[in-house]
Amino acid sequence: MSKDISNCKNLEHNMITIIGSGKVGSSMALQIAMKELDTQVLLLDIVEGLPQGEAMDISHLLSERGIDTHVKGSNEYADMAGSDIVVIVAGVGRKPGMTRMDLLNTNTSIVKDVAKKIAENAKDATIITVTNPLDPMTYVTLKITKFKPNKVIGMGNMLDVSRFKSFIAHDTRMSRSAIDALVIGEHGENMLPLIRYSSISGIPLVNFLDNENAKQVVENTKKVAAEVIALKGATIYAPANAVTHMVDAIVKDRKEVIPVAAYLDGEYGTKDVCIGVPAVLGKDGIEQIIELELNTEEKEWFDKGVKNVKDSIAKISF
Ligand code: 2OP
Repeated sequence: MSKDISNCKNLEHNMITIIGSGKVGSSMALQIAMKELDTQVLLLDIVEGLPQGEAMDISHLLSERGIDTHVKGSNEYADMAGSDIVVIVAGVGRKPGMTRMDLLNTNTSIVKDVAKKIAENAKDATIITVTNPLDPMTYVTLKITKFKPNKVIGMGNMLDVSRFKSFIAHDTRMSRSAIDALVIGEHGENMLPLIRYSSISGIPLVNFLDNENAKQVVENTKKVAAEVIALKGATIYAPANAVTHMVDAIVKDRKEVIPVAAYLDGEYGTKDVCIGVPAVLGKDGIEQIIELELNTEEKEWFDKGVKNVKDSIAKISF
């Protein structure tokens, strides 16, 4: 029989705290719980009743499925004590017609506040930042918590990969399961879907897509989030899935290569910025940053992203 637990950490389990219990946060809680990672999940939000209600609804589903993962809701930051992973989803989402960078001012103050609370209450946690604009918000999280750079990870490119794969599967008519794809750079206007580093069952993508089609797939990948937001108001399931994938890699110490926003200190020819690069994720968070050789065009896009992120960071006071 499964025993009930309080909001606080049960020592037998990994504890995953999700700060922000809106549609993305609660979908994340559900997807993480369904993975049965031997975790307990805490949903936190300042809106009274919301995290508790989401946790109850999710727990009812899990009960019918016979899954013993405990999901709890709370309005108390202190309840995240002992968290192994804290996910920051708090903040305002993009509205139709907005870029991610348009959220800079509003979300900076929210993320600063949340990061302080994490540093006070869960100093040993690995943090996954999801709030947009993703790369600057990952940097804010790092600077405010003063955690080690390997413990602060931004989720953006993993989500871009899911969209890139979707267009590759559509255009090549190949099984999604055979596709290996990579997107790096800014999770924003200058994202860099890498055709050269993508393949189908190990066969380079250029064997399946001509130049024109490849360009179209890249363009579609960059633009499609805005289309989803225009249609349904927000992106929910794919971001929640991307975070779940990263949580799985960390909790199971999988040493999986996943593109994430990481703090760069000389890698890719730049310093003091968080931006998307391939990294090995395991129990210590970012265990290695992988430096790819980029051709002139790819490097140009990557550097444009770096500049955009650095310009935004320069507007923030720390
Ligand atoms: C997304 O790409 C809005 O950044 C979010 O879905």
